[in-house]
Amino acid sequence: MSKKKATLSVEGREDIELPVYEPTLGQDVVDVTGLTAQGLFTYDPGFQSTGACESRITFIDGAKGKLLHRGYSIEELAAKSDYLEVSYLLLYGELPTEEQKETFVNTVKNHTMVHEQLRVFFNGFRRDAHPMAIMCGVVGALSAFYHDSLDIHDARHREVTALRLIAKMPTIAAMCYKYAQGQPFMYPRNDLDYAENFLHMMFGVPCEETKISPTLARAMDRIFILHADHEQNASTSTVRLAGSSGANPFACIAAGISALWGPAHGGANEAVLNMLEEIGEPANVEKFIDRAKDKNDPFKLMGFGHRVYKNYDPRATVMRESCHEVLNELGVQDPKLELAMKLEEIALNDPYFKEKKLFPNVDFYSGIILSAIGIPTSMFTVIFALSRTVGWVAHWNEMISNTYKIGRPRQLYTGQTEREFVPLKERK
Ligand code: CMC
Repeated sequence: MSKKKATLSVEGREDIELPVYEPTLGQDVVDVTGLTAQGLFTYDPGFQSTGACESRITFIDGAKGKLLHRGYSIEELAAKSDYLEVSYLLLYGELPTEEQKETFVNTVKNHTMVHEQLRVFFNGFRRDAHPMAIMCGVVGALSAFYHDSLDIHDARHREVTALRLIAKMPTIAAMCYKYAQGQPFMYPRNDLDYAENFLHMMFGVPCEETKISPTLARAMDRIFILHADHEQNASTSTVRLAGSSGANPFACIAAGISALWGPAHGGANEAVLNMLEEIGEPANVEKFIDRAKDKNDPFKLMGFGHRVYKNYDPRATVMRESCHEVLNELGVQDPKLELAMKLEEIALNDPYFKEKKLFPNVDFYSGIILSAIGIPTSMFTVIFALSRTVGWVAHWNEMISNTYKIGRPRQLYTGQTEREFVPLKERK
């Protein structure tokens, strides 16, 4: 029970006392669930002040630029861990022991292939379809293939589904790419680690052995870690909302992928690269900064700003370092990196961006690394979806394992009051 209380005074009504909860980290939370019984709702478009659930998975302190998964900082996880270990942590709440890790990695590997019939499914798409369009459809279709684990009230079914999703997403993502290339799909190789296997399925061909650079595999794994989870963002909230109706997990993840696709969310990494190409050279940066500040111009600096971070996004710091490392190790001179750094420097010193606390976010540098790895722009958001799947499924599982209600927001109605129906002939 909460000890603190808040009092709500509404003109013409008696004061209403509301419980206040104290989290282990972060701001106090006023419980407004009792308001509806008092004939009141809260109004919060965009959920800027609304906590929609209780969660133990991820904590963000936007003012300090801090991100913790199950209490561990993203900087430490990116430097000392790997994606499957972080996945285990997100799903089960603790870092695995050596034995637990081995079992987990082997179990994921046992699920990397997709049903052979699913390969046929791809033929229905145009070759020039956006890979995100294919991914939404194919992941939703998984529910038609894995009937043996769709009982959401069975904890073992939920676990198998989580493992299947983590294991199959790289296979599906690479298939989306290969389909557009007109190249044969590559089967997964379970002698490789998670990131290596993904690069093998992306860039390998059946007529020769795939050579995978350890530098690129490490950079890829770091990108997976940095995108693995991010609290109750738009796509995770979408997955929770879809799941709250009892929908099957594959359908819920497909809903999350759809929410991620937009340029304000996961689609920003693709939009950053397109923007850098449009800017073209450092001399044009000032012009684009001016456009971003112009209220009458819809242009925004892609890769800048965040709903929660009002300080540097900690993922962007790691991504920035990684970007330099990868380009140095590969000996790549990418003029886009120079352009990105110039843009960052000017924006960070500009009063508009300073005042609005607009800092580079995770997507600002990820596209440059992905391009250096050889991944086409249209695949960037697909890779974000692949990485975020573990976060989505961890949140879905957390919700289903606890008591929850169907998500059903209310509204501030400003439409017509009740009126009589006018027959067609009498309407003017
Ligand atoms: N360029 C120029 N102005 C901006 C930008 C930007 N990138 N971002 C926000 N602003 C301005 C905005 O116009 C508004 O100004 P005013 O107060 O005068 O109306 C103010 O800053 C507050 O912005 P907002 O749009 O009300 O803030 P929000 O919390 O609703 O939106 C955001 C956050 C991430 C959608 C937004 O900053 C944005 O569109 N950024 C560009 C897209 C992007 O990089 N998205 C990736 C987010 S990180 C990855 C992920 O989690 O998916």
